[in-house]
Amino acid sequence: MSKLPKNFLWGGAVAAHQIEGGWDQDGKGPSVADVMTVGGPNKLREITDTVEKDKFYPNHEAIDFYHHYKEDIRLFAEMGLKAFRTSINWTRIFPNGDDTEPNEAGLQFYDDLFDECLKYGIEPVITLTHFEMPLNLAKNYGGFRNRKVVDLFVRFAEVVFKRYKDKVKYWMTFNEINNMMDYSNPVFLWTNVGVQVKAGENPKEVMYTAAHHTLIASALAVAKGKEINPNFQIGAMVSHVPIYPLNADPNNIMLAEESMHLRYFFPDVQVRGKYPNYALKEFEREGLDIPILDGDEEILANGKVDYLGFSYYMSNVVDFNAKETDEINVQGKIPYQVDNPYISVSDWGWAIDPVGLRYTLNRFWDRYQIPLFIVENGFGAVDTVETDGTIHDPERIDYLRQHIQEMIKAVVHDGVKLMGYTPWGIIDLVSFSTGEMKKRYGMIYVDRDNEGNGTMKRLKKDSFDWYKHVIETNGEEL
Ligand code: BG6
Repeated sequence: MSKLPKNFLWGGAVAAHQIEGGWDQDGKGPSVADVMTVGGPNKLREITDTVEKDKFYPNHEAIDFYHHYKEDIRLFAEMGLKAFRTSINWTRIFPNGDDTEPNEAGLQFYDDLFDECLKYGIEPVITLTHFEMPLNLAKNYGGFRNRKVVDLFVRFAEVVFKRYKDKVKYWMTFNEINNMMDYSNPVFLWTNVGVQVKAGENPKEVMYTAAHHTLIASALAVAKGKEINPNFQIGAMVSHVPIYPLNADPNNIMLAEESMHLRYFFPDVQVRGKYPNYALKEFEREGLDIPILDGDEEILANGKVDYLGFSYYMSNVVDFNAKETDEINVQGKIPYQVDNPYISVSDWGWAIDPVGLRYTLNRFWDRYQIPLFIVENGFGAVDTVETDGTIHDPERIDYLRQHIQEMIKAVVHDGVKLMGYTPWGIIDLVSFSTGEMKKRYGMIYVDRDNEGNGTMKRLKKDSFDWYKHVIETNGEEL
């Protein structure tokens, strides 16, 4: 049987705002993530108007990667990582988003960071923005509901593409660009596009307006990047949670098929360079007024991505008999969602479905026929440090092993073209949806708790050596 390609990008993924800390250092401005408090499995994170003195904002210090990056990258190198996925915090480069000049100290930080990776032969895989829009753009421009923000984003992209053109080859434009489709949880629109829906507005129209501007910004950035360095590989990045029908009732098959438009809308535009008919029909049917300007079709057609990056954690199930509720779910919820009776869930209620990863890889490959990249996958759980400093995380190892097995089947058996695998939170970090530290994904433990206490000391978990061996054997020994 053939194997994974030799140049397969085994790596680890994080996001600037979830690890860096140093939120106001060296000229960095506040981002949308810097006004978000801690929530919990059943408690939404609060978005405050400004940074309030008596509130705790977990991203302000995060795991202080800003000051620990050398030590952390040394550990990544010891693990054998070939790729490290992170983002460039937009507000280190343009503190307010509309500044006339970029902030040199911010640019220098990423120069140093990428040099440190390259020193060990670790390929940086960079997301232009991972929920890090300057707060000023969200507050005073209305985020991506305002077309001016498109130009400001493209300028930011141009500055970093030019600066790092010889250091970074793999890029993605917007992290989990499709999160905003779940506008029932205000955190998703806020972090994706800096938008808050006002009373009396049609949230779907607001969402699609911001979505259109984000898609235009992504397409313009892709085109600009290719102009700066034709060898760049620039991808999209979507959150992918496949939606299954509960059973073989044709009504459920069709419901699941239609629900999947929630997942395909963004990659359909970014990969194919045009709006899918089902979306145009929806705009027409529901009378949604989306500001698509003359020339936009051309922009989308000229900004197709080279590959599709995606996160995969779980799957969903729908049943047309399910009762719809207005209940807001911190983790996101789709209409007609029900539990899957065949699989278990994590402590945070995320369905554990390794086969769904192979299914996803096949569906994406069949639909798009461009290289795929699993840029997030992982298991959020509570970890315990034993008295001797060891951390045993067999459940995490099991989760990753089973997903890697399915990934290998997709490549070796099904022939899917896959660039790499960068599991999420290779080092413990602040959870995006809840703001907790307690929900840990890492193979490296960080001594820091939900209230911001701890020494920031780094410790290896059992999964550290396990993953190191997986990489050494190119996935032959799991
Ligand atoms: C994705 C995001 O949603 O999943 C990450 O791209 C996030 O930013 C990750 O951290 C895991 O989600 P959570 O809510 O468990 O941190």
